[in-house]
Amino acid sequence: MCGIIGIVGREQVASRLMDGLRRLEYRGYDSAGICTIHDGALERRRAEGKLDNLARELVASPLDGAVGIAHTRWATHGAPTVGNAHPHVVDGVAVVHNGIIENFKALRDEMQSKGRRFESQTDSEVVAHLVADQLAQGLAPEAAVAAVLPRLHGAFAIAILFRDHPGMIIGARLGAPLTVGLGDGESYLGSDALALAALTQRIAYLEEGDWAVVTHDAVRIHDRDNNPVEREIVQSGVSAAIYDKGNHAHYMQKEIFEQPVVVAQTLQSYVRPLEQKVALPQMDFSFGPVPRITIVACGTSFYAGMVAKYWLEHFARVPVELDIASEFRYRDPVLEAGGLALFISQSGETADTLAALRHARAQGQKIAVVVNVPTSSMAREADLLLPTHAGPEVGVASTKAFTCQLAVLAALAAKVARDKGRMSEEEERDIVRHLSEAPAAMNAALAHDEDIKAMAHVIAEARDVLYLGRGQDYPLALEGALKLKEISYIHAEGYAAGEMKHGPIALIDDAVPIIVLAPSGPLFEKTVSNMQEVQARGGKVVLISDAEGIAQAGEGSIATIEMPKVHPLIAPLVYAIPVQLLAYHVAVAKGTDVDQPRNLAKSVTVE
Ligand code: G6P
Repeated sequence: MCGIIGIVGREQVASRLMDGLRRLEYRGYDSAGICTIHDGALERRRAEGKLDNLARELVASPLDGAVGIAHTRWATHGAPTVGNAHPHVVDGVAVVHNGIIENFKALRDEMQSKGRRFESQTDSEVVAHLVADQLAQGLAPEAAVAAVLPRLHGAFAIAILFRDHPGMIIGARLGAPLTVGLGDGESYLGSDALALAALTQRIAYLEEGDWAVVTHDAVRIHDRDNNPVEREIVQSGVSAAIYDKGNHAHYMQKEIFEQPVVVAQTLQSYVRPLEQKVALPQMDFSFGPVPRITIVACGTSFYAGMVAKYWLEHFARVPVELDIASEFRYRDPVLEAGGLALFISQSGETADTLAALRHARAQGQKIAVVVNVPTSSMAREADLLLPTHAGPEVGVASTKAFTCQLAVLAALAAKVARDKGRMSEEEERDIVRHLSEAPAAMNAALAHDEDIKAMAHVIAEARDVLYLGRGQDYPLALEGALKLKEISYIHAEGYAAGEMKHGPIALIDDAVPIIVLAPSGPLFEKTVSNMQEVQARGGKVVLISDAEGIAQAGEGSIATIEMPKVHPLIAPLVYAIPVQLLAYHVAVAKGTDVDQPRNLAKSVTVE
């Protein structure tokens, strides 16, 4: 989603702003722009599409200046055209904005009634007009911003540049993240620590409602009531080097291959192999009295939650409700007193999930959060913080964050079961042993990369693809279909294998490949029966199973992908890998933009 960077610098900033924008590319965008102050004027360049287009603009027409703001825009209001790209410049005020100003129409009408003319279809331009209007009434920039912020409804992170006050940028946040960075005689603003990684490691995260005046040698932060506040300066620990893809062609490929290591890293905080116990980073939380767990998430994180529902119900015998965040908050859910609401998110900033979290808190739920970005809004609002240690995920399509979420959720399920007295010490030891085996099994799954690559062309030619799974492999079928859609743009559906007869079987012909996820085990026979129903109708099956499953049921498939034989508990962590690799290789075969697929954003900070 939109990305912001601002530099109050001592030297030329255009190329550094561009570098910051490149670090924000992963969030997803469809136009970009940059504005600097030079010789008492605001100068701006904007371009549709990829940053290379903006870079070409800057080569053709370079920008001077030591102070500037820049933006990658993911269109919400108004098409991704140059005219709608940020920064919006009005009477010596330049604004970049991430989020949605929900009351922009009323504010625009008000500004238009004062004779102001709008140049774009965006909701964001109104912020520039409102600030310019206050300045025209004689207010100083700080007072103007303080007057405008309470009038903005919705979610925003903004950065504002003032032609007549060239040594400063004002930033503000509410519902969308913004950080300030401290340099040597320079200061910065950025959507996240990654944007600032090449500039500084010393950063402060603005809190909800904060606004900050950023000058060369100081950052003055105010809370939503305009009181001066201090926010802790932390070492971001995000090195510019994470942008190195190593030997990989894409971040997504790198992140798929990192999974055994980051899952092992994550498990270190959740299992004690010597004592053979599961342990959460925060041990003071007892699940014994929790009557019900409500899991809420979006996208891939939702599918991790779906697997967790199977585990929590199976091991801990606790009822679990599961909801997509955007549905949860508006369906007036019944939340039992003393209940636990569990939110799962890679970014910790997804607007729908964050709003759902706040809704659940207002309904008296305890809040647990499984999150990959430890400084995110969700992490900060959790009663029980369950971090994943996947490291920064750059590819838009989530991979390593998903398997790390699964690792945490498996440990959580065991902990809940223990606290509720539903799991013996011996069973706990088994869980620890199986989880500890997961990284090696994932490595073994990755060893089939070449086989998957070799068959990807078959899928690349298809117009529709079905994924089938049962039990805890059903969410994996959904995740496989999502991955394929996201990065290869092939229409794909995930189905519970047993449900296929109730509709999708009508789609089957020899042009529709069916990917069947069927580890040998309790549900294998049932899934295989569904697979045979497909084959009997000419369907082309790709069977993903272990050697035993393939020996039993592989005949008649157009391809088989062999996974190591694993305990059912860790099967989702292992079977995630072939579905990720398949989507990856199909996308590469089709020549799509794997890391930044069209229309998608990494962190969806608007509802
Ligand atoms: C976007 C991303 C997905 C991600 C989803 C939820 O749609 O493209 O990869 O699964 O958001 O994001 P979260 O950060 O909350 O896990």
